[in-house]
Amino acid sequence: MNPSRHFALIPAAGVGARLGAAIPKQYMPLAGQPMLMHVLRTFAAASEISHVFVVVSPDDGYIADLMAAAPHLQGRVTVLYHGGASRQASVLNGLQAVKAQVDEDDWMLVHDAARPGLTQDLIAQLIAALKDDRVGGLLALPVVDTLKRGDQNARVAQTVERSGLWAAQTPQMFRHGLLTRALTLAEAVTDEAGAVELLGLQPRLVEGSPRNFKVTLPHDVALAEMFLKEQV
Ligand code: C5P
Repeated sequence: MNPSRHFALIPAAGVGARLGAAIPKQYMPLAGQPMLMHVLRTFAAASEISHVFVVVSPDDGYIADLMAAAPHLQGRVTVLYHGGASRQASVLNGLQAVKAQVDEDDWMLVHDAARPGLTQDLIAQLIAALKDDRVGGLLALPVVDTLKRGDQNARVAQTVERSGLWAAQTPQMFRHGLLTRALTLAEAVTDEAGAVELLGLQPRLVEGSPRNFKVTLPHDVALAEMFLKEQV
């Protein structure tokens, strides 16, 4: 049997409403390039990754220009115009679209376009940690802040015990067959691990990095640029 390969699958079909920009978040300029370009370049340059797939919305008007501006990505990145109404739908559509090119035991590394701070080292650490894992897993960060649950008046209703809590990041790495089954059965999950957990499995938590945070709100843009310019 051939060893399992590793593929990147980037859902990039969201609109990024919380950022309030005129163009979709994944195409916002960040340190001189569209946010998505940083992610594509990182995966395309990673020797462990056999190929990169990016899922965009069927009426995406930006990706063709981005790809045309990056000849080094050609041959390494395939664009799938199969985005759905939710992140879960976009990922599942992407998995189905690549089914003929991928074995069911191959690993899929699903990564948010909105996490441009990912590095090749983090990809390598995730892959090494999960090499012999039966389930798969994800990058995540142990929660260090004390957590409060607030009520509708922004008053503390409860302090939440933080021991054992992790904040999930991406990539989330699962085998193609398992992940397709999990996302098909799950009702509404916000990450791949959540769908796999519903099958009664326990994804492995692999320590990520603060620089791999998700750009969501306007003030995140400056922080992401600091990481990308390696000032911190
Ligand atoms: O909106 P949020 O930051 O949670 O999105 C996470 C990732 O999922 C982004 O890369 C976004 O483009 C993607 N997404 C998608 N299809 C959707 C919604 C979000 O591919 N319908």
